[in-house]
Amino acid sequence: MQFGWTVKGEAVISGLHHYALEVPDLAVAEGFLQDFGLETGEKDGSLVAHCPGRDQEQVRLVEAPDKRLHHVAFTLHPGTLDPVREALDRAGTPVIEPPAGATEDGLWIRDPDGTPVQLLDQPQASARPVAEVLVNMGGTQQRVNVAQWTVATQDVLPRRLGHSLLFTAQPGPMTDFYTRVLGLRLSDTIHHDRVTFLNAGAGDHHVFGFIASSHRGFHHASFEVPSIDAIAVGADRMRARGRPEGWGLGRHTIGSNFFHYSPDPWGSWIEWFSDIDQIDDCWVANDWEVPPHLWGVPPPETFLANQEPGSPA
Ligand SMILES: [Fe+2]
Repeated sequence: MQFGWTVKGEAVISGLHHYALEVPDLAVAEGFLQDFGLETGEKDGSLVAHCPGRDQEQVRLVEAPDKRLHHVAFTLHPGTLDPVREALDRAGTPVIEPPAGATEDGLWIRDPDGTPVQLLDQPQASARPVAEVLVNMGGTQQRVNVAQWTVATQDVLPRRLGHSLLFTAQPGPMTDFYTRVLGLRLSDTIHHDRVTFLNAGAGDHHVFGFIASSHRGFHHASFEVPSIDAIAVGADRMRARGRPEGWGLGRHTIGSNFFHYSPDPWGSWIEWFSDIDQIDDCWVANDWEVPPHLWGVPPPETFLANQEPGSPA
């Protein structure tokens, strides 16, 4: 793996559009996603979920006997569809038919793990607008004559899907494919290829990534909320509705975002984040030997357990 790249590949993916899982019970899934703060609906026989105030499907759930990663979908930078086709041709990656339960939009391929990937020639929808957060922290004193507690929890729901991390048994080939063929960029790694974070150019430190495992699978998806208060209020809401404890509140090392994870009903995770590092073309990737969190309680022992069945994808 190379670090300190100065010559960047052509960034063709502009961000994550949505992720899709197979799950055994759509009603259970709907209750969970609503408690998390998403709006749900039905489309083509699948359960879909949106962030309030954002016109972009963020989650698609397809009913099937076992919970399993179904597909991931990305948006492309304008005008990159032809270069993507050429890069796929060069890599010998064939275009496939959409999997059952997905839309026919865009271009469909399989990544080296066999996961169907949808490439959509469309921009990211705008995240729901939010108020500026004024702080009195460090050397910054911005908020005067405003009682913060009276406004801090006015807007707490997810604004946009930010990133997802997948399990893979082959982080090297997966990273190679998503960077050299699809134009994502290496952001950072933990312990060589134990965890790999990828970015889509200027913006969030990571939009996608991998956790080394015995087999492919879905680890977590993460949604931006307007503030650290919103993360804590989200966790309180899940607790009040009888959902099991997750992991948080904490601040991550890689990406630096505040986080709280809730376990989903199928052994994987969903995350609220706020204050993630923003990067641009000057960012230099590095390998780190660090725990996942800067402070806060350590993760539960099951945090990195891949509980999906070995997949025939
Ligand atoms: Fe995350």
